[in-house]
Amino acid sequence: MATTSYHEPVLLDETLAQLDLKPGAVILDGTLGGAGHAEAILERTAPDGLLIGLDLDPDAIREAGRRLAVYGDRVRLVQASFRQLERIAREENPSGLDGVLLDLGVSSHQLDRPERGFRFSPGPASPLDMRMDREHEGVTAARLLATLSAADLERMFSEYGELPGARRLARAIVQHRETAPLATARDLIELIQGAGIGHGRSHNPATLVFQALRIAVNDELAALEEGLEAAFRVLRPGGRLVVLTYHSLEDRIVKRAIRSAAKGCVCPPSFPVCRCGRKPRVVLATRRPIEPSAREIESNPRARSARLRSAIRLEAS
Ligand SMILES: C[S@@+](CC[C@H](N)C(=O)[O-])C[C@H]1O[C@@H](n2cnc3c(N)ncnc32)[C@H](O)[C@@H]1O
Repeated sequence: MATTSYHEPVLLDETLAQLDLKPGAVILDGTLGGAGHAEAILERTAPDGLLIGLDLDPDAIREAGRRLAVYGDRVRLVQASFRQLERIAREENPSGLDGVLLDLGVSSHQLDRPERGFRFSPGPASPLDMRMDREHEGVTAARLLATLSAADLERMFSEYGELPGARRLARAIVQHRETAPLATARDLIELIQGAGIGHGRSHNPATLVFQALRIAVNDELAALEEGLEAAFRVLRPGGRLVVLTYHSLEDRIVKRAIRSAAKGCVCPPSFPVCRCGRKPRVVLATRRPIEPSAREIESNPRARSARLRSAIRLEAS
């Protein structure tokens, strides 16, 4: 199997095992990236398995198209958000899916391109963009920093970045933009340092600030909730949902969504018979999240924060 510098797939063996792949299976990869997971899925579902691949980023679709060309019509690629996965899955394969994979966040390719603005890089000035899909209209990080009120900036940094000092940073941004816009990652880093955010903390505050902006620009948490719900609807009985998260906000959403879907009757215990009629839609395949081994983290430090959770769809309900 070819390796790629575009992105090293994380928890690859564990993901394949949780998807419980069989020849002929129909799998939707909602976050293709460099197609490392997708290629391995195609190998394990040969000779006639189908892979439906989505990504918001046209670069990823192009890369995946090149890498997966040898699989011919076993591959269908669509540039779209996994928010739309129910519609796309029904169009591509109306009888349902055997597996859905969501490997969240950004790829190494996206992180490593200064022009995408996903992180601070010491080289050429990096614009504060952070849109996964730059070919369609969308609000950039610079635009959010220029237009949100101090209260909304504070809420963004504290809810999406869990940033100590969110209010102080929000006020510093509003004050700064009265005289000059925040256009580049360097401008923002200097402001964070100047405002004294994160002194004495173990987390680099810039990481939390960039995380918060990225989540807001791409509306990532709402997209995740919608994508999970859509996945429960399109999986066939016995079908698997596998989700890889990279920070606690994402992991919490996945944990709650799977636990809630695994719940049956929610009537008060005083009811002699069930009136809500609610049936569990999934069973948990992983009680605790699977984490990368020390060996994987050593060879791929970006795997460090990964958590894998998985669920199995029950009979249609
Ligand atoms: C961690 S990478 C996936 C890497 C991939 N599993 C591989 O093996 O190369 C995450 C990818 O998800 C994409 N992405 C993030 N949010 C998305 C969304 N809501 N819908 C579709 N793609 C999304 C990003 O553009 C990025 O390419």
